[in-house]
Amino acid sequence: MISKELLSAVTAFGLVSGAAAVSCDDPTATIASAADATTVANCDSIEGSVLVSTGAGPTIDISGSLESIGGSLIVQNNGLIQTLSSDSIKTIGDVFQLKNNTALTSLSFSALSEVGSIDWATLNALPEINFGTPGITKADSVVIADTFVQTIEGINVESLTTMNINNNRRITRFSSSIKNLKNELSVQANGLNLTMELPNLEWIANMTIANVTEFSVPSLKTVNGSMRFDSNYFTTFLAPNLTEIQEGDLSFVSNPQLTNISLSGLEKVGGGFTIANNTALTEVTGFSGLTEVGGAVKVVGSFDQISFPQLEDVKGTMDVASTEDISSSCDTLNGLSSNVVQGGVTCDSQNANANNDTSSAGDGSSGTGNTQNAASLIGASTSTIVSLAAVGAFITAFM
Ligand SMILES: *[C@@H]1O[C@H](CO)[C@@H](O)[C@H](O)[C@H]1NC(C)=O
Ligand SMILES: *[C@@H]1O[C@H](CO)[C@@H](O)[C@H](O)[C@H]1NC(C)=O
Ligand SMILES: *[C@@H]1O[C@H](CO)[C@@H](O)[C@H](O)[C@H]1NC(C)=O
Ligand SMILES: *[C@@H]1O[C@H](CO)[C@@H](O)[C@H](O)[C@H]1NC(C)=O
Ligand SMILES: *[C@@H]1O[C@H](CO)[C@@H](O)[C@H](O)[C@H]1NC(C)=O
Ligand SMILES: *[C@@H]1O[C@H](CO)[C@@H](O)[C@H](O)[C@H]1NC(C)=O
Ligand SMILES: *[C@@H]1O[C@H](CO)[C@@H](O)[C@H](O)[C@H]1NC(C)=O
Ligand SMILES: *[C@@H]1O[C@H](CO)[C@@H](O)[C@H](O)[C@H]1NC(C)=O
Ligand SMILES: *[C@@H]1O[C@H](CO)[C@@H](O)[C@H](O)[C@H]1NC(C)=O
Repeated sequence: MISKELLSAVTAFGLVSGAAAVSCDDPTATIASAADATTVANCDSIEGSVLVSTGAGPTIDISGSLESIGGSLIVQNNGLIQTLSSDSIKTIGDVFQLKNNTALTSLSFSALSEVGSIDWATLNALPEINFGTPGITKADSVVIADTFVQTIEGINVESLTTMNINNNRRITRFSSSIKNLKNELSVQANGLNLTMELPNLEWIANMTIANVTEFSVPSLKTVNGSMRFDSNYFTTFLAPNLTEIQEGDLSFVSNPQLTNISLSGLEKVGGGFTIANNTALTEVTGFSGLTEVGGAVKVVGSFDQISFPQLEDVKGTMDVASTEDISSSCDTLNGLSSNVVQGGVTCDSQNANANNDTSSAGDGSSGTGNTQNAASLIGASTSTIVSLAAVGAFITAFM
């Protein structure tokens, strides 16, 4: 005979063991409570993934003996979680994904140093991120979108594939010791007082930078693809060690406070060269070493001096126009028409509409200005940016 008490004890045990079913060997260890977090934290390692479910409660601490998660750590669509932490996890093999956790105000992973990728979006209550020292030293891709964070520091990876920092409205400082970046760095639509420092960056495939107030890349030597700056608020752009933009375009469009672009070491731009509507830029004289442009050149604005003293070969056209009197510069540039600029030179002094055309120079060798490019460049404002988080998700989904 089984007593009533025993029966209820067995049932309770069944329930408890059901609830505590999370195990170190689960392909996906699901944390459904603070107690589950403790169970997971006491695993020696987890080969699968760890998922924090939406009802797990406000405080999840995964600190214990657990140092390594082979798969991903995922918290998403969770409007209740406020604190997520671990002082023991050192590596996450795949994605560290935090998405749409709108009440998360505290995130602390003081031992974390290696992740496959960071994919964080819509953490709009999160004021800061606490990585320890030395912070993240190994990661392939980093996407941080739509957070409330003020600074992003502690991403001290040498080599990355993709980094995308967008729609972080309060961010004022982003610094990283990355040395090279294999695909794209995209920084757009963040807060309007953002200082970006990449002191060790030596080569980067592509970069697209918008709405940045201070930008420094003192060690940059090579851009393999394209480099574009739209609607930034920095006053000077210096990259003394930059010698070549191998394949793609160089573009500065609508940077209203820019007074000085100085790229004196730059010898080659593989694609198009565009400087347009930077209304405070009075001299375009910072390209003293430029010899070769693989596409077209377009320089339009409100400058009164422009020169390319070393230019030897431009595959496309050269279109120059200024609201100011540049007639003497035009005399010199027109002289490049016959043997230097294969597509021919047009130079327009005192053209009142010089700042209206922000389309980019063509990057092909046909010499025709590419208005298709132009549309995407100007329209970079809303639609592109809104989809950036999605692009990030796409990238990590294929990792
Ligand atoms: C974000 O999470 C909330 C729950 O907190 C959910 O109701 C909402 O549908 C989620 N949004 C998206 C876009 O998935
Ligand atoms: C970029 O150029 C540098 C210097 O030439 C080179 O070392 C690096 O491998 C190139 N990166 C890519 C992604 O092509
Ligand atoms: C730059 O900031 C302005 C003002 O917030 C915004 O309207 C614009 O879309 C932003 N542009 C980009 C390319 O981030
Ligand atoms: C921009 O941020 C810096 C600190 O990062 C601060 O010193 C400066 O006053 C801010 N400027 C504006 C216009 O808010
Ligand atoms: C730059 O980005 C473009 C498209 O985003 C890509 O096709 C190209 O391979 C990148 N360049 C390099 C050198 O990775
Ligand atoms: C710039 O290049 C020179 C010569 O290669 C080197 O000595 C110097 O350290 C570089 N500067 C930076 C900030 O990397
Ligand atoms: C731009 O900055 C460079 C480097 O600091 C300097 O040599 C040059 O004179 C400046 N040009 C103008 C027009 O201010
Ligand atoms: C160019 O811009 C100026 C100033 O914004 C404006 O007055 C003018 O009508 C524009 N011209 C054209 C052709 O759109
Ligand atoms: C030129 O730049 C100014 C200031 O950034 C901006 O307001 C204007 O819309 C830009 N003009 C065009 C044609 O993009």
